[in-house]
Amino acid sequence: MEKHELLYEGKAKKLYTTDDKEILWVEYQDQATALNGARKEQISGKGALNNQITSLIFEKLNSEGIQTHFIKQLSKTEQLNRKVQIIPLEVVLRNVVAGSFAKRFGLEEGAVLPEAIVEFYYKSDALDDPFINDEHVKFLDIATDEEIAFLKSETRQINSILKKIWSEIGLTPVDFKLEFGRLEDGTIILADEISPDTSRLWNAKGEHMDKDVFRRNIGDLISVYTEVLEKLEAAK
Ligand code: C5P
Repeated sequence: MEKHELLYEGKAKKLYTTDDKEILWVEYQDQATALNGARKEQISGKGALNNQITSLIFEKLNSEGIQTHFIKQLSKTEQLNRKVQIIPLEVVLRNVVAGSFAKRFGLEEGAVLPEAIVEFYYKSDALDDPFINDEHVKFLDIATDEEIAFLKSETRQINSILKKIWSEIGLTPVDFKLEFGRLEDGTIILADEISPDTSRLWNAKGEHMDKDVFRRNIGDLISVYTEVLEKLEAAK
């Protein structure tokens, strides 16, 4: 498999075409962003940590029967993914009150939700990824009723697997963001990444083992992500 031309450059990844039109070569970058890209920093080693963590999580999801874009890890910073048309939604699942949910409803962070809540945000840098509901998703022609139902049930299924993975290494998945994409035949599969960049992970002491250390300036991102990776590797 050879890497060809750059197809897309996002905030944290570069996507290249390969000899196979259904497969992309993905390189994780060191850039960290907050406030929807308004704050940007290069953090050496971050791309490698997220690539390795995402690879371990997606391998586990694949083995548990979740259909994902992940094919294999190529190096510390690279992986092969099936090519999909990304659905322009950030699907967020919340197990515990935190972040924008706490802010929106004027709640303290930390209460466990009686039932996990799934939310949709419209992926649009220009609009700052607004919070939208099922009817907006339909109105914008992003997904049908059946597809919306699938996105929600698949996200809950993924949550039950993630809860097992993270609890084995002493972490609570407080909330996380997923992205899905369509294969050429329309099948929807899980795409993008699952890492401390896209998930809130709290340890037993309530410490933040995720990107909030960068967003809130409360710790060293590399040492926190390294600890997460080392624990995942040890539990493999
Ligand atoms: O900020 P908020 O509380 O809405 O974030 C919910 C979850 O989604 C967090 O785990 C956060 O890391 C993730 N997220 C993300 N990318 C965004 C927005 C949120 O990965 N653009």
